[in-house]
Amino acid sequence: MKIAVLPGDGIGTEIVAEAIRVLDTLDLSFEMESALVGGAAYEAHGHPLPESTLKLAKEADAVLFGAVGDWKYDRLERSLRPEQAILGLRKNLGLFANFRPAICYEQLVDASSLKPELIAGLDILIIRELTGDIYFGQPRGRRSAPDGHFPGAEEAFDTMRYSRPEIERIAHVAFQAARKRSKRVTSVDKANVLETFQLWKDVVTEVSQQYPDVELDHMYVDNAAMQLVKAPKKFDVVVTGNMFGDILSDEAAMLTGSIGMLPSASLNASNQGLYEPSHGSAPDIAGKGVANPLATILSAAMMLRFSLNQPEAADRIESAVKHVLAQGLRTADIWSDGTTKVGTREMGDAVVAAITKKTITG
Ligand code: IPM
Ligand code: MG
Repeated sequence: MKIAVLPGDGIGTEIVAEAIRVLDTLDLSFEMESALVGGAAYEAHGHPLPESTLKLAKEADAVLFGAVGDWKYDRLERSLRPEQAILGLRKNLGLFANFRPAICYEQLVDASSLKPELIAGLDILIIRELTGDIYFGQPRGRRSAPDGHFPGAEEAFDTMRYSRPEIERIAHVAFQAARKRSKRVTSVDKANVLETFQLWKDVVTEVSQQYPDVELDHMYVDNAAMQLVKAPKKFDVVVTGNMFGDILSDEAAMLTGSIGMLPSASLNASNQGLYEPSHGSAPDIAGKGVANPLATILSAAMMLRFSLNQPEAADRIESAVKHVLAQGLRTADIWSDGTTKVGTREMGDAVVAAITKKTITG
């Protein structure tokens, strides 16, 4: 088994280092190889996703990814910006199924901006389609407007599109995931306005006929955004397109207290996967040793479960994380009165210690 390790930019290097230490503690025999990605790769090789990095990622069974991006690259032409690395990996590896669980840990109920009773026990799974939609749809670009309200004016355009097979395969992923949970799927669309999402709704409904044991409902995205803060526990599996999933998954993250807690997995048809925290590179706190490594550590657990067939090792990481939270250890993003503030490294140390102790005591 081979893991490609791509720490990236900003806090990426700090949080991935902790996840690696946690993986090392487990005494499993993987090969790990690191490569530059994002702004770091641009600095060294002139491209955010160099051929060598892409090759490593393609050959690996799984990719452990940190984060990419920094404001200082905002002026580069789009194809050279750090974000293109993650989009390029998703596209080239065919990682169409993005799992973003939002779980509110008992100990963090007070870290959320929502009332405790709304989020205590929250456990939802957002399944975001990741290789289609307006993110990748062609044509796109800038031009002189051929028509519209201001003919001849400079305009920019992107294309929202989904094909039937793209919708079918993500719908199957959602229904199968729901079978392992509470057998409910909410499909989020904007069928009242967009052709793309009328097709989405029609196809998801058709696929649902193969899953009579799973209950399906449909919700418009604006309403879904509202329901997520009004009554988040009403959701179980949410399936949606690339753009709506991007937005709703950040919203769902905040229900849990901090986006610093949320792992994610992006899988292709052969279960090869890329695992990354749901948050970004946070250049404002990079290098300060204060970032929360738990989302990345939990992403490593998802990697063990989904791509490396090591569910017990995944369980050990997840229970170690619960253990350190129960000990009262908190990075700044989840800190509250009465808990102990720790840095990135100390949080990693504590997870490692919790795993080691469990090994000794069995
Ligand atoms: C995410 C991020 C990315 C996205 C960016 C970095 C391109 O926001 O993974 O949610 O929009 O998909
Ligand atoms: Mg996002």
